[in-house]
Amino acid sequence: MYNEIDLDKIDIHSEPPTEEPGRQYYFIGKCREWGEGFRRKNGRFPRACVTTFGCQMNARDSEKLSGVLQKSGFETAQEEAADFIIYNTCTVRDNANQKVYGRLGVLHGYKRRNPHLKIALCGCMMQEPSVIEKIRKSYGFVDLLFGTHNLYKFAELLYTCLTCEGLVMDIWQDTDKVVEDLPTEQKYRFKSGINIMYGCNNFCSYCIVPYVRGRERSREAADILEEVRRLAADGVTEIMLLGQNVNSYGKNLKHPLSFAGLLQEVEQIPGIRRIRFMTPHPKDLSDELIGVMRDSEKICRHLHLPLQSGSSRILQAMNRRYTKEQYLSLTEKIRREIPELSITTDIIVGFPGETAQDVEDTIDVVRKVGFDNAFTFIYSKRTGTPAAAMENQVPADEVKENFDRLLHVVQETAKQRTARFLGQEAQVLVEDVNEHDSRLLTGRMSCNMLVHFPGGRELIGQYVTVRLEECKGFYYMGQEKKAWQN
Ligand code: SAH
Ligand code: SF4
Ligand code: F3S
Repeated sequence: MYNEIDLDKIDIHSEPPTEEPGRQYYFIGKCREWGEGFRRKNGRFPRACVTTFGCQMNARDSEKLSGVLQKSGFETAQEEAADFIIYNTCTVRDNANQKVYGRLGVLHGYKRRNPHLKIALCGCMMQEPSVIEKIRKSYGFVDLLFGTHNLYKFAELLYTCLTCEGLVMDIWQDTDKVVEDLPTEQKYRFKSGINIMYGCNNFCSYCIVPYVRGRERSREAADILEEVRRLAADGVTEIMLLGQNVNSYGKNLKHPLSFAGLLQEVEQIPGIRRIRFMTPHPKDLSDELIGVMRDSEKICRHLHLPLQSGSSRILQAMNRRYTKEQYLSLTEKIRREIPELSITTDIIVGFPGETAQDVEDTIDVVRKVGFDNAFTFIYSKRTGTPAAAMENQVPADEVKENFDRLLHVVQETAKQRTARFLGQEAQVLVEDVNEHDSRLLTGRMSCNMLVHFPGGRELIGQYVTVRLEECKGFYYMGQEKKAWQN
């Protein structure tokens, strides 16, 4: 990439530089030298496996981990064959944590077979002191632990871990630093996420993210735009701007710029054909943003707008700072301005004090808005959040009943909404060969819906027009236009 430092120009036998990102490139050089030694001894390069849990933000962070590993001379491998395994963890709900603990048991088995295997854990879980305590006590075979705030130091930590025995641990409480220009290894060459901000200042009362990701920091617009330009030059055509609350982008910058303003700048960049973003918060979704989306040729016809609850009483206890009525009038306004837009959402069931009547309010919003899809979650108590200390926790069987009732409506509504495309033509960006049937390709519509259709892998990364022939509820089966015209 454009701003990367040429590794061959770094003297890895002098003292490490103190400036970033130069210091990390120095350690990449050191890791590469270590990898050469490994190859001389073992007749092959070292192999690494990166596993990601959680959200898009973590997925992007993992691309940075992979970038460092690749530049350090590691080949990618499946877990069973790897010499270095790293889990980038999530702690938003307890089941995310349990998955990691379960998998660690399996890794212990690999390590017994291969004592040289190094196991690393990073990401949101590592920012919780209770997790660190548990890992040190019950999973003593882990070699490297670091958190979210110092991910940019991965090369340095990796080198220490590879060349030392015993646990390497580096966890920071917070940071105000944004380190730019580290190498990344994208999962897809034609689409990419890009961080526009880090952290969150909203403190929704159920949510652990502000505690594990720290305070909100926006990246300078010039840095973001340059990264998008570089990605476009490398062949990326679809980008997703990432932040926990993208609407509050830019507030503390040297040159303040609104999120809508940033979108307009990104839109000017040649080569970029589709722009997505995650996640806007309903409390400060501006008319300016709606206007920019409406008038844009490139911003996708999809808005993920987390509702969390349709009960104003629960929303207040959640510290979401909008009411049921405000959410409804916001979505009405959006639908009026951009009728073709797909709206999806997140909903939590079982927040402390939630009654069946509150869930009826949520169901009412689902029916009125007509979400194209909704991710429904059972409330998970996160230690340290205000909601965890609330006394009126809802019994599990009650939650389950409410959850099932809501899910039924969500699925019915989504099915009806999805059916509106039947028989139409849509442009899709082809992402991959279908997971289950290699004769099919999987493409994504602007509205985020997936379409499966027959085709060859040479179309991956291309924009193709398909006819949407069969609605399967949450996705479509289709035919490429070329194919059905002949
Ligand atoms: N910043 C984003 C969401 C990040 S977390 C936003 O504000 O919308 C993704 C989703 O996880 C949230 O929208 C919420 O629905 C869910 N979530 C967060 N904390 C949770 C908890 N303690 N229990 C259950 N679901 C939770
Ligand atoms: Fe969590 Fe709320 Fe921040 Fe989203 S906005 S990350 S739900 S605290
Ligand atoms: Fe999970 Fe951290 Fe994202 S807790 S949802 S990976 S910000």
